[in-house]
Amino acid sequence: MTKEVHFFRQACIIESMVESYSKHANHNMRRPVVKEDVLSFMRENQLQTTGFLKELEEFAHQENIPIIPRETVAYFRLLLQSLQPENILEIGTAIGFSALLMADNAPQASITTIDRNPEMIALARQNFAKYDVRKQIRLIEGEAMDQLSELQGEFDLVFMDSAKSKYIVFLPEVLKRLRLGGLVLIDDVFQGGDITLPLEAISRGQRAIYRGLHKLFDATLTNPDLTASLVPLGDGLLMLRKKRNQVRLPD
Ligand SMILES: C[S@@+](CC[C@H](N)C(=O)[O-])C[C@H]1O[C@@H](n2cnc3c(N)ncnc32)[C@H](O)[C@@H]1O
Repeated sequence: MTKEVHFFRQACIIESMVESYSKHANHNMRRPVVKEDVLSFMRENQLQTTGFLKELEEFAHQENIPIIPRETVAYFRLLLQSLQPENILEIGTAIGFSALLMADNAPQASITTIDRNPEMIALARQNFAKYDVRKQIRLIEGEAMDQLSELQGEFDLVFMDSAKSKYIVFLPEVLKRLRLGGLVLIDDVFQGGDITLPLEAISRGQRAIYRGLHKLFDATLTNPDLTASLVPLGDGLLMLRKKRNQVRLPD
């Protein structure tokens, strides 16, 4: 390799280390669904991340990797410390930020997290090797739908933070593996507020996501076998509690 090529490569590495996410990705993360000044208030005044979580948060922001925002971090802290779940499932690991946050706030929990992106898997593995001090986290590589059917045991809490059009596809498998009274948290369901628009107002390329999210709402929000709540944190968090052993979902 010539000196010039070497310096060019080094410069590229410094500018952006992660190829999976461009600087134009995740624009909904920057479109608050609550008033901007309220959002800033929430982000600035609630407990900040520190130590390795702060480092990972800064890395994710710098590389445009979508991770849960600060207001959701504050809520997860409170929820996990209160519920102390023993078995957690996460769909969508990315660099491992939310998995490590959950491990930190539920120190007795076993956490299974699934991702299919090789670049994210490599970063998550590095981060878990360094920061998962109690060895709580197991990373499963692959497409979530394939991996879900292979999972053993019951979960107390499931965090779904992956392809939004697929939430409704994953849901039956997730509910089968959730204990009675357990919680499912589903992130980014508001599409920066555009979820309220008629489908014709959405670009064709995006419609599958909206169709998937509307199917998810139709199946869950008033389902008598579940207790559901839409929480305007980040880009919208749908929370579901399994109220009955058999949860009937529309075909
Ligand atoms: C929003 S990021 C997860 C962020 C992470 N939960 C956090 O807050 O730190 C979404 C991740 O889900 C993964 N993903 C999306 N669809 C998936 C699927 N069908 N199966 C497995 N992983 C998927 C992507 O590769 C990406 O790393």
